[in-house]
Amino acid sequence: MTTQISLRVDSEDKTLEVDTRTTILDALREHLGNTSPKKGCDHGQCGACTVLLDGRRVNSCLTLAVAHDGAEITTAEGLVENGELHPMQKAFIEHDAFQCGYCTPGQIVSAVGMIEEHRSGWPSHATEGPRVENLSEKEIKERMSGNLCRCAAYANIVPAISEVARNGGEAR
Ligand code: FES
Ligand code: FES
Repeated sequence: MTTQISLRVDSEDKTLEVDTRTTILDALREHLGNTSPKKGCDHGQCGACTVLLDGRRVNSCLTLAVAHDGAEITTAEGLVENGELHPMQKAFIEHDAFQCGYCTPGQIVSAVGMIEEHRSGWPSHATEGPRVENLSEKEIKERMSGNLCRCAAYANIVPAISEVARNGGEAR
């Protein structure tokens, strides 16, 4: 069974006809040709497919498109605004935090979503006490633990995210 849905993807309105079993990841990649989010495991285990869905990070491989008709989706590509890289993208470059083309888009989107979750007061498993204070290295590692790579080349990601967090984590 197919149905028509609308999505706002990276600031552009899109209408598409999808099988009701289509995930947002497949809607983006197969229907809209947006290959920024990657299909790593297709099982919610690697984070390569992470996008912002109405501002919150999700594993798009586990999220059905029909359940989010009218939603706003931001991919790593859509973080660029008026030709200018997002502060998180700049920080990844400055700290040499880039990994491969496969996992990096998900890492960057996840980092942007994570800072917003922290700002909203969401705790993580690493949070001690009733309040979430600064994003410590332990907090960042825990909050990014859903984004995996097979190469363990993570060394510079934490400093990149720390810098953006220190600067207030502003979207821009
Ligand atoms: S492809 Fe979605 S979590 Fe791995
Ligand atoms: S999977 Fe991308 S650097 Fe390891």
